[in-house]
Amino acid sequence: MARSKFELATPCLILDIDVLETNIVKMQLLATHNGKSLRPHAKTHKCTTIAKKQIEAGAIGVCAAKVSEAERLTKAGIKGILITGPFAGKQQIRKILEILSESPSLATAVDNLQTVDDLDAALRSAGLEMDVLLDIDVGLKRTGVKPSEALTFAEKILERKNLRLRGIQAYAGHLQHVPLYNDRKKASHASLGEVIPVFNKLKSQVEKLTIFSASGTGTFEIDGQIPEVTEHQVGSYVVMDAEYYAIESPNNSQHFIAFEPALRLLTTVVSVNQHGFVTVDAGLKSIYKDGANPFIISRGFRGMKYDWFGDEYGKVIYSENDKPPELGTVLEMVTSHCDPTINLFDKFYVTKGDEVVDEWTIDLRGCSQ
Ligand SMILES: Cc1ncc(COP(=O)(O)O)c(C=O)c1O
Repeated sequence: MARSKFELATPCLILDIDVLETNIVKMQLLATHNGKSLRPHAKTHKCTTIAKKQIEAGAIGVCAAKVSEAERLTKAGIKGILITGPFAGKQQIRKILEILSESPSLATAVDNLQTVDDLDAALRSAGLEMDVLLDIDVGLKRTGVKPSEALTFAEKILERKNLRLRGIQAYAGHLQHVPLYNDRKKASHASLGEVIPVFNKLKSQVEKLTIFSASGTGTFEIDGQIPEVTEHQVGSYVVMDAEYYAIESPNNSQHFIAFEPALRLLTTVVSVNQHGFVTVDAGLKSIYKDGANPFIISRGFRGMKYDWFGDEYGKVIYSENDKPPELGTVLEMVTSHCDPTINLFDKFYVTKGDEVVDEWTIDLRGCSQ
């Protein structure tokens, strides 16, 4: 018998299937329209079911942040995986070789000469070769080599016989949530502009060096107009969150309207003894405290703000003119930062309207190694 989402034990995550599928198709169409490939980031949803849907819609593969994510995706039969984050040490390299044996299309970004040497040596002993992208730091300062050092670094990779340098990665993570569209656009053009000469030079020298991977949800539209960029590694667009919802779109100064929130969290009012707020059953263990404050979208309570209230609880704040939610009311809200919130749960309840139509395991949950 059909189950209503309001009968679910809370707190729990739900995914509106219609919104999710619209987001997947829309992003694919926009990328294709700009002549770009899509390799969405699986770090956001951590779910092989969603990764497969993105590939069915036309993505050339998916990105993984960590080696263990790539391993789980490969076991699910997913090809075209790019590991976007750095790794170090023999154990991680051994794991990469295991994955590569199963999935020769695996590629990784690199930003350190020691890792390049270790990886090349391990591949040589195993009689394997692997695609790599040179990770260039375009301002985030988290990973990547400096743009001024990129060509010298690329030459070193090219000397290694078992690594195939296929392109560059330039992820401007620090720009994705710049609130004003024109500021974001200017900053993204300036950041990626720094590495365009590097890419063009390498492309002219190296046959089969064709990949320029860039962009998150906040800049893909902007970067889609840069001819050199060949693919986007967008993540959050597929489920969205309050942090992205708050940034400006080119044609809407209030909200980011390109994609709608497919991910919502259900929480129940468990105490109503205070004035000005009610206590709900979702706290730090259910909603990651990062990014913008979650907000309620349930009819009658729309727009009420959530705030964290310890490990197990939160507060939903109402004003003088509001009718407060009663004890037992199930509230639906858009979460703060989607990636780390999803990583707190084992599954998504998939909904169509108010009805629960499926359950999808968050099977990359905890893959942080
Ligand atoms: C390296 C890298 N690429 C792509 C993304 C996707 O960005 P977004 O979720 O903003 O679309 C992230 C997200 O943090 C990232 O760390």
